[in-house]
Formats: sequence, structure tokens, C-alpha cells
Amino acid sequence: MNRTPHHIFRDGLNCLVRDHERFKIMFLQYRNPCASPTMKKAIVQNITSSLSIHHTIEEKHLYPLIKRNCHYGNNKIKTLEVDDKIISGLTNLLHKMNNEDELQMKSYDRTVEKLIGNINEHIQEQEEEIFPQLRDTMDEAQLEKLFNALESSKWWAPKNAYPFVPKIIQPLTGVFERAYETMGHKKTLL
Ligand SMILES: [Fe+2]
Repeated sequence: MNRTPHHIFRDGLNCLVRDHERFKIMFLQYRNPCASPTMKKAIVQNITSSLSIHHTIEEKHLYPLIKRNCHYGNNKIKTLEVDDKIISGLTNLLHKMNNEDELQMKSYDRTVEKLIGNINEHIQEQEEEIFPQLRDTMDEAQLEKLFNALESSKWWAPKNAYPFVPKIIQPLTGVFERAYETMGHKKTLL
């Protein structure tokens, strides 16, 4: 079947690939030798907020598809969850770190590079292994349904982790964040 630009754009797997591309742009921004420590902190804040949204929408809409449609889907989910925990540990660590002097900056850079390495592994595994398998099992309508679900979930997905908030009301944290943004506070990204 011929795929029109409309179909290519409104394809859930392409939507996730576009998110991945945005991460790669942020990595380049971080590695820019002209980036000041303050700019680097702001870029890391953007990366971690975008990661929180990306993780939430994938866990809700992509992981069930992987479970159902991929070879060894259950095992794959377990390894993805371990990878997610490593990434979330690194983002929590970065929130507590400073980069105000040379020594702190070295350690901050090293931790960001570990985070970038883990996100790049996530991207490679999804784009080279998981998405081609899913694409073989999904038709145009299913890909568009996935796109709609991902895009609408981005609206409420939280940009920060709230480990002390009970899981059942976690989705509300994203709604409160958006309300805060509409009052003129800072926005991000995906
Ligand atoms: Fe992803």
C-alpha cells in the first residue's frame, strides 16, 4: 500500500522515533563546547522532563503491544523495565548534583554521559529490534490509533517523578504541572 505523508506522520511508531530524534538534538546541545554550566543544567532539565513523558506514554501504550506482539514479549518488558530503572536512577542523581566548580562539572558531565549512553541504547533497541517487529504486526489503522493515544497521553504525562504520590493518582501530577504552566511558568518539550 502507498503511504501518504499523512499516514507517515500519524504513525505511532514514527511519533516515538521523532521523540528519539529530539533527544539526540538535546544531546548535541549538551555537548556543545560553548554551553555554559547554567545552560547545561537547563538542557539536562529538558532531557529529564522529556524522558519522564516518553517513559510514561511508552509504558502505557507501547509496552502492552510489545507484550502481545513481539517475540519473547514478557522477557523483553522485564529487560526494558530494568533499563528504565537505571535511567530513572541517573536522572534522580542528576537532580541532586551541582556543576558549579570544575570538579563538580567533571562528575556532572560523566553522569550525563552515562545517561546519554543508556538513552542511546534504549533508542537503538527500540528502533532496530522492537519497532520492526511491531510494524510487521500492525496495519495502518492500528498505527494511527497508537499515534492518537501517544499524543493525547503527552498532555497529562508528568514531567517529574513523584515517588511519594500514590500510583493511582500519579496521572493527576501531570495535569497539575500543565495547569502551573498555563499560569506562565516554564514549558517543555515533546
Ligand atoms: Fe523510546
